[in-house]
Amino acid sequence: MSEPDLYLLGRAGPEEERLKRQIANLAPDSDQQLERIGIRPGERVLDLGCGPGGVLHLLGKRVGPTGSVLGIERDAHFVELARRFVASHALRQVEVREGDAYATGLPRGSFDGAHMRLVLVNVPEPERIVREMVSLVKPGGWIASFEADFLAHVCDPPLAAWDRLLAAYVAYSAARGIDLHIGRRTQRLFREAGVEALSTDAVVHVYPPGHDRRPILRDFIANVREGLVDEGFIGRAELEVELQALDRHLADPSVLVTSHLFFRVSGRIPGMREASGR
Ligand SMILES: C[S@@+](CC[C@H](N)C(=O)[O-])C[C@H]1O[C@@H](n2cnc3c(N)ncnc32)[C@H](O)[C@@H]1O
Repeated sequence: MSEPDLYLLGRAGPEEERLKRQIANLAPDSDQQLERIGIRPGERVLDLGCGPGGVLHLLGKRVGPTGSVLGIERDAHFVELARRFVASHALRQVEVREGDAYATGLPRGSFDGAHMRLVLVNVPEPERIVREMVSLVKPGGWIASFEADFLAHVCDPPLAAWDRLLAAYVAYSAARGIDLHIGRRTQRLFREAGVEALSTDAVVHVYPPGHDRRPILRDFIANVREGLVDEGFIGRAELEVELQALDRHLADPSVLVTSHLFFRVSGRIPGMREASGR
């Protein structure tokens, strides 16, 4: 078990670039979820763990110039990138602050809605972040989560190297207290935190050759490769051999590749909640 407060995937250049590409890749799926929530112009909303931009632009567009969006991000470098991202979209109603989603210090019950995407799959105590998120939303307000579950990391035909690298990554994450199947658990965490009118669906995509997300397993392994070797999850020589096999497989256009199953959960904070909040 090591530092619980480091972002699992690090923030070296390649991860930064991956997260930037992800903003565009996941925008249609996120926007569809936000559309169903019925966010109104003028709302004051929150995005926890916004990374270098996340959905800030999508939320900003929905609340409009009379509303406001606050992005909270723990990593100072990502905060800087997110501010640039917001500026590039000319969204004056969006603010990004450095902060910790475990304990934001924000006033309880003060937001019309709160969202987070792919944060829980990186943290060892997801229930604490859920409780914090729920506590920040007004009675009757909305909450939304877009979260990963590694169930659907699949290739066909199967490849032993794929299975071994995925197993090493799962073990590495578990050693940090991280549940890579948190996606399926999110609606339960929300229910236990008192969220009502829960609505959940899931999306998964097939990534053809040339798609940004086709090599995502390789990207994850590359981000943590030194840790995998240093902590004994895989030998260095074996890692190199398996990565080469994975690369050959990914380059074969006849190979089918999927990645995460994304669970989209949304719900409402009970309207009768006591004003003292939780
Ligand atoms: C996979 S990235 C997702 C970024 C963005 N939400 C998106 O979907 O594009 C996870 C982000 O959560 C941030 N994060 C992890 N733990 C956090 C915490 N306790 N408080 C605030 N941010 C956190 C990480 O720094 C990282 O930027």
